[in-house]
Amino acid sequence: MAIRDIAVSDPGPIFGSLAERGWSRHRSEGADFDSIVCELGRLGDRLGSRVPGRAGSLEEVVQPRAADDAHPRSLSARYGLGALPFHTELSHRTRPCRYLLLGCIDRGSPAAATMLLDWRTLGFSREDLDLLENAPVLVRTGRRSFYATILSPGGAFLRYDPGCLEALDERGKQALKLVGDRVASAPAEAHHWRQGDILIIDNWRVLHGRSPSDRGSGRRLARILIDA
Ligand SMILES: [Fe+2]
Repeated sequence: MAIRDIAVSDPGPIFGSLAERGWSRHRSEGADFDSIVCELGRLGDRLGSRVPGRAGSLEEVVQPRAADDAHPRSLSARYGLGALPFHTELSHRTRPCRYLLLGCIDRGSPAAATMLLDWRTLGFSREDLDLLENAPVLVRTGRRSFYATILSPGGAFLRYDPGCLEALDERGKQALKLVGDRVASAPAEAHHWRQGDILIIDNWRVLHGRSPSDRGSGRRLARILIDA
């Protein structure tokens, strides 16, 4: 996979670059937990309304977890401290949140990068898009599992998460393989965190993942999720 590092300075206007490339970077004035969460909230409130994460909280702290220490249906339960594959946040909800905001409390040592990939750059043909919009897949989320398609009707968002999507038939298999293959060979971008950095990610457009981490690295990111 070709990886391009994101330049340290980015003078573009906040929401301008979000619209242009599907993500934008900001700085929190203070680098402590409270300042970062406050800034995430300030930015998030301008974009839409907050929705709770998997554990039911509106503000979360995410850290690399070994497989035996992770929520049983999370990506960490499957991939542990290895690279977390590209995914759409909240793929297990009928409508994944529109935005994902992350703030760096501690970059960790060793640090792990957040990987970003705009699915519209994956070169899908009209035929590919039809397959993604029509092949049913199972979204596995315990008793609330449901059927969906990878591409939402009309193409507003791509639902992709190797941790919870399962093929039901040959077309579903083809669709999952198509996205998996394209993602594996795509030129992704790596964001290397500094304490106080904030990323806003358009979750309907940009898939995210994490480079490999280590047990006890201390990496901690604050996270809020926004519907819009
Ligand atoms: Fe995620």
